[in-house]
Amino acid sequence: MGKKLIGPFSQLLSLANVPVKGALSDQQLVIKEHAGILTENGKITAIGNYDGLRENHAHDATLVIIEEETVCVPGYIDCHTHIAFAGNRANDFALRNAGVSYLEIAKAGGGIWSTVQHTRNASEAELIKNIINCSKALIKQGITTIEVKSGYGLSVKEELKILRAIKKAQESIAVDLIPTCLAAHMKPKDYEGTAVDYLEEIASELFPILKEEQLSNRIDAFIEQSAFSADDIQNYFTKAQKMGFDITVHADQFSTSGSKVAVQYNAISADHLEASHETEIKLLADSNTVAVALPGASIGIGCAFTPARKLLDQGASLAIATDWNPGSAPMGQLMTQATILATTEKLSNAEVFAAITFRAALALNLTDRGRLQPGELADFAIYKTNNYQNITYMQGTLKPDQVWKKGINIYT
Ligand code: NIG
Ligand code: FE
Repeated sequence: MGKKLIGPFSQLLSLANVPVKGALSDQQLVIKEHAGILTENGKITAIGNYDGLRENHAHDATLVIIEEETVCVPGYIDCHTHIAFAGNRANDFALRNAGVSYLEIAKAGGGIWSTVQHTRNASEAELIKNIINCSKALIKQGITTIEVKSGYGLSVKEELKILRAIKKAQESIAVDLIPTCLAAHMKPKDYEGTAVDYLEEIASELFPILKEEQLSNRIDAFIEQSAFSADDIQNYFTKAQKMGFDITVHADQFSTSGSKVAVQYNAISADHLEASHETEIKLLADSNTVAVALPGASIGIGCAFTPARKLLDQGASLAIATDWNPGSAPMGQLMTQATILATTEKLSNAEVFAAITFRAALALNLTDRGRLQPGELADFAIYKTNNYQNITYMQGTLKPDQVWKKGINIYT
């Protein structure tokens, strides 16, 4: 791929030099005006004043001229989704709003288990279709990297079906799908042994296939009353880590203990944290584990938001993701959710943009994306507006006009 010069942009939000941990003020955002991006082979080779770049590269680069007033931001990263599912849980939503809790619905056989039934009954082709449809909806929001969890199969065979579907979906989608194995979402109700037996079976039978077929290098577990305890998960995570998998945890959604496990295993991220209090906040802030807030789940269930302000003030790295799934978070709108969290938790623009770009990349152990600077992937979104503040102010209703992945405009 030859060189391309894209611009001029009225404003470019590079996020270069913005720290990976802790609270941020908007003064830390260096906004470049009348800027351009030079790309080659899918990567950024230069960012700078458009006229200067044009003078130096008009002879050897294709010029992609942006006529209107625009703001360019790094492509967003949705670092936590469950879009490999079938079926719908509209009835759970109605039940919750009638006063039945998420955990009560789960206990009665609804919740995750009902999506497992639908997903097991779906063909691989149907799952691929759902992953592609959801990915397209995320691309329209400016998202260029999407984490996708399994977790609605809950047997070696069914988890493999899902992870292979994610791998196949990747073939027809331009953005990067980052697969995560969440076979430890709950103990399947049709499994006769103990929770530890189930985990043992998954670790010994599924983990080697994940490596062999390169289906995932990330292992996730839901630590909660309705799922697995901190004790249950010890051998599972130890084995995963020995095999070289990255660890990530669904932690402290309704009760604490998950974040402690996450820090114990030096997890890449601990996600949810709605129930985290001072002890857990401090534990996470003092660790290298990225705290991931999932406001879509708080909105979907109607429960507390992750204490994002306290996490940041104590020094944690905070990412925000959609948690898109048919149960707790059916909305799938990253900017809307991030900015609702921002109004409630009082997050600066810098904190919001960091949380859905390079801090979200870190939650996936990726360091090649999330900022607009030389050497990183040429992933970015372009908005028709002259002020970057309008993006958060419009709370997700202002959508990008163009979305570029690895140096190509993929927005159709
Ligand atoms: O992240 N908390 C556990 N897992 C998902 C919900 C899955 C579901 O309800 O289907 C979550 O919110
Ligand atoms: Fe989740």
